[in-house]
Amino acid sequence: MATDSWALCVDEQEETCGTMETLQISRRPAVTSVLAKSGKDQNKSDEEEEEEEDKAAQSLHNKLIRNKLVNNSFKVEILQRDPNSPLYSVKTFEELHLKPQLLHGVYAMGFNRPSKIQETALPMMLAEPPQNLIAQSQSGTGKTAAFVLAMLSNVNPDNKWPQCLCISPTYELALQTGKVVEQMGQFYPEVKLAYAIRANKMQKGSKIQAQIVIGTPGTVLDWFNKLRLMDPKMIRVFVLDEADIMIATSGHQDQSLRIHRMLPKDCHMLLFSATFEESVWSFAERVVPDPNIIRLKREEETLDNIKQYYIFCRNKEDKFTAVCNLYGAMTIAQAIIFCHTRRIAAWLAGQMSKEGHQVALLSGELAVEQRAAVIERFREGKEKVLIATNVCSRGIDVEQVSVVINFDLPLDKDGNPDNETYLHRIGRTGRFGKRGLAINMVENEHSVEVLKAIEKHFNKMISKLDTDDLNELEKIAN
Ligand SMILES: Nc1ncnc2c1ncn2[C@@H]1O[C@H](COP(=O)(O)OP(=O)(O)OP(=O)(O)O)[C@@H](O)[C@H]1O
Ligand SMILES: [Mg+2]
Repeated sequence: MATDSWALCVDEQEETCGTMETLQISRRPAVTSVLAKSGKDQNKSDEEEEEEEDKAAQSLHNKLIRNKLVNNSFKVEILQRDPNSPLYSVKTFEELHLKPQLLHGVYAMGFNRPSKIQETALPMMLAEPPQNLIAQSQSGTGKTAAFVLAMLSNVNPDNKWPQCLCISPTYELALQTGKVVEQMGQFYPEVKLAYAIRANKMQKGSKIQAQIVIGTPGTVLDWFNKLRLMDPKMIRVFVLDEADIMIATSGHQDQSLRIHRMLPKDCHMLLFSATFEESVWSFAERVVPDPNIIRLKREEETLDNIKQYYIFCRNKEDKFTAVCNLYGAMTIAQAIIFCHTRRIAAWLAGQMSKEGHQVALLSGELAVEQRAAVIERFREGKEKVLIATNVCSRGIDVEQVSVVINFDLPLDKDGNPDNETYLHRIGRTGRFGKRGLAINMVENEHSVEVLKAIEKHFNKMISKLDTDDLNELEKIAN
């Protein structure tokens, strides 16, 4: 059985108490930079050296990535006019009746038009009386901005207590979502944000004055019960990001339901995810009263801008060689390599380092602030290749990621294909219309079967890739 299933990873993460001092609780605490500080300058000279060495890769980078993968706002505009695209919109942000401060924030983030989920969900979330919502939309299509705008629109800044609560499955994701609240609300300074995450040590008896709280479920429960920092009965909007894992028995069901039971009966509920397994979907409909529903058809779940490939290898060592062959192509932009267990992730990172390849490892053994520093360095492009387990599979938004490699295909606790995790993992690339590659390593009959099952589930072809042929990759990236 997997030693680092999703739940285990997340539980451990919740349990890990960082030694960091109390984070500043304010709307613009620059939390991520505080957390990233320790790791920021450490390898600077190494990086500079590496940058100089890597001129060839740099020119390819320019050719493939800047032109084709990252800087594609023109293409986004086109997609937003294509009714078949998840980025399609018929409305402007003005037509969504946002507060002027928020409209200002949206444009300051460089958003020109809403995506399909934003323009569909926002009117439902801003309606009077508020309507509950269960919403599915593909990875990287802007769900965060949708529910962040709903929260920012629904607070009363004169009331100095938490009114909107958003829970996320991981510490890193809670921080990332907080950052979006900070950016989107930058012209609405009366609204404050607090992070209910383990690293943020709070004194019992103090009262949170921020109107919006974002956190992981364990800490949120502590803030309600043990520390009594906020009153659940005053929460008016409850958002579950990655909602399917938040309410799945294999995920955070217990904690999410405990939170839910403490909230007022008429608390507005908003559930968002790129995936909802059938059983989770029906459970969600039972828990959320009279919801509006935005649901994708199965064939709409995968994105055409993410091309999916597989490489056949004989064993783990062979997979390692294949990854090394791909390293040059991966570092053209950035890549995430997913492994099934922490042990394999650590082994792969060690082997790659021995070969002289620079890689970062996101491992459960790290303290939370170190984990945040790893993600931050990756986000800033200081690390080009991140080796991770499923803990990084959901929500993390790093736009330059152009390749996702499944070193191991995702399996659930019973060893069956985990279609949902597959979709979330490959969704770390191809953000908001960008092009991306997903490369799956298969090594034995079982993994061939898993791959076929995933292919069948999404009814989307996964083609064979010849690793020796780097031109092939160039062709794909073009
Ligand atoms: N209207 C918009 N115009 C331009 N860019 C946008 C817009 N909305 C969101 N984005 C950008 O798209 C990227 C992906 O958004 P986000 O992280 O919210 O996706 P998501 O739907 O939550 O994906 P996932 O299912 O992987 O969590 C972000 O970098 C965000 O800044
Ligand atoms: Mg998201």
